[in-house]
Amino acid sequence: MQKRGVVLKKTFSFDKELTVNRLGYGTMQLPGKGVWGPSTDPQNAIKVLTTVLDNGVDFIDTADAYGPLFANLYLKKALQQRPHTKVMVATKVGLTRQGPDKWTPNGRPEYLRQQVELNLFSLGLDQIDLLQLHRVDPAVPLAEQLGVLRDMQAEGKIKHIGLSQVSVQQLEEAQKIVPIVSVQNRYNLVDRADEDVLHYAEQHHLAFIPWFPLATGKLAADQRLQQIAAKYDVGPAQIALAWLLKTSEVVLPIPGTKSVVHALENLKAQEIELSEEELNDLNELK
Ligand SMILES: NC(=O)c1ccc[n+]([C@@H]2O[C@H](COP(=O)([O-])OP(=O)(O)OC[C@H]3O[C@@H](n4cnc5c(N)ncnc54)[C@H](OP(=O)(O)O)[C@@H]3O)[C@@H](O)[C@H]2O)c1
Repeated sequence: MQKRGVVLKKTFSFDKELTVNRLGYGTMQLPGKGVWGPSTDPQNAIKVLTTVLDNGVDFIDTADAYGPLFANLYLKKALQQRPHTKVMVATKVGLTRQGPDKWTPNGRPEYLRQQVELNLFSLGLDQIDLLQLHRVDPAVPLAEQLGVLRDMQAEGKIKHIGLSQVSVQQLEEAQKIVPIVSVQNRYNLVDRADEDVLHYAEQHHLAFIPWFPLATGKLAADQRLQQIAAKYDVGPAQIALAWLLKTSEVVLPIPGTKSVVHALENLKAQEIELSEEELNDLNELK
């Protein structure tokens, strides 16, 4: 999977007009504990977002379910503070919340339609660049879940459609209903269970957006990465991100952090070109 001796492109193109830096940012750490309620420090949450925007991040992943809505509201404020910064916003619909760390899918078309509207409103946008179905709801036919998103795409409210946490089979089924441009699955240095989905994304030029790129922060403290990290004068988190960036040109990592310092540190991963020997060592960590 790793590309040996080849310098990969730092950008990914969704279409002729939409090219983004591959290293993005995810907003899930910004709301309160358990991704529930407001941040204990909303000004800091907005500052993290303006910091990444000021430092070249132009791909931001969010969801109506983060808070719910608080992450979107912080992002809206940050976008208002940077009106001239071009940024691709990727959001999601299809998960409902019942409390801290509680998530339940709802793929009923009328609910998805409502949530696309709420995403537009809470983000202050007229169109969503990338709308991802957060989870396929097993209780609702996929054609109904994607059918309403296809309708809203035709209405101009959605530019591109993506999926989250799906199998290759579900991707193939979905592609028959509406064009899919991205897939967001759990994937990182120590969790490569969905490599088949990554292969599919690479073959079909879909963006592969690995969530938990730092294994929820565990990789930022992984001593096994320390030796390589020291060589580049960075921390283990940046090595884990550099490894992801080296995996394929279709990989767009979206590390989450509520820390301005960590957000800036993570951006250094873009400058690291891991050697073949380092890649071999990292691949062994599986
Ligand atoms: N599609 C889905 O179902 C799904 C599921 C989960 C997540 N996501 C998306 O994926 C994004 C990333 O996932 P995630 O945020 O849950 O997990 P993650 O990026 O794997 O890890 C986030 C954790 O790493 C820590 N961290 C980040 N940078 C660090 C650094 N430089 N040094 C030390 N610690 C660092 C953060 O703590 P600090 O805040 O203290 O920095 C936080 O606890 C989310 O924000 C969200 O957009 C999607």
